[in-house]
Amino acid sequence: MVTITNDRGHLMIRRMEEHDLVRVSALIQNTLLVSNSSDYDLEIVGNLITAFSPSQLRAIAKKRRIFICEENGAVLGTIGLEDNRVYNFFVAPDRQGSGVGRELLEFVENRARKEGWEKLSVASSLTAVAFYRKMGYVRKGEQDNETYGRTVTMERRL
Ligand SMILES: CC(C)(COP(=O)(O)OP(=O)(O)OC[C@H]1O[C@@H](n2cnc3c(N)ncnc32)[C@H](O)[C@@H]1OP(=O)(O)O)[C@@H](O)C(=O)NCCC(=O)NCCS
Repeated sequence: MVTITNDRGHLMIRRMEEHDLVRVSALIQNTLLVSNSSDYDLEIVGNLITAFSPSQLRAIAKKRRIFICEENGAVLGTIGLEDNRVYNFFVAPDRQGSGVGRELLEFVENRARKEGWEKLSVASSLTAVAFYRKMGYVRKGEQDNETYGRTVTMERRL
């Protein structure tokens, strides 16, 4: 667990637990609808929403570490780390642009660095490519998945 104090107050980053599943799932599903639906067809957004139901999230958490960022008990964002890859990274739409994503990404970058990885990569949504570029990531390729849509591989040295 880490606590970060910024000009808005205290943010806490910790592992997601069983009792967080419903809130984290709701945050991801809402963010998909609000933030990603301008870049993806509704069918793709629907598939992703299904993939992040509470029960699916529980299954994902068995193979991947999932962290959440909280402020006064409210979940502001979530990020997953599996080996040296970032997954399921979402910040609540009304808190995007306020530094939560940077804190979460730097948190997993530090974890991966400590574990000896030399680079970190992510299959970025089309929505988040400019954010990753800002965070020092470079484009390595692009993939198109029939169920989950187009993503861009972004990578940075740690
Ligand atoms: C991508 C996402 C996680 C970023 O989180 P965030 O909290 O909005 O990001 P931050 O506020 O910490 O931004 C960090 C820096 O990136 C910049 N940034 C953020 N979004 C940006 C964008 N779309 N374009 C360019 N720069 C951007 C910020 O200005 C900030 O720069 P600064 O520190 O110099 O001011 C969030 O926007 C999100 O949830 N998007 C929708 C879901 C999604 O597509 N997730 C990615 C899945 S791979």
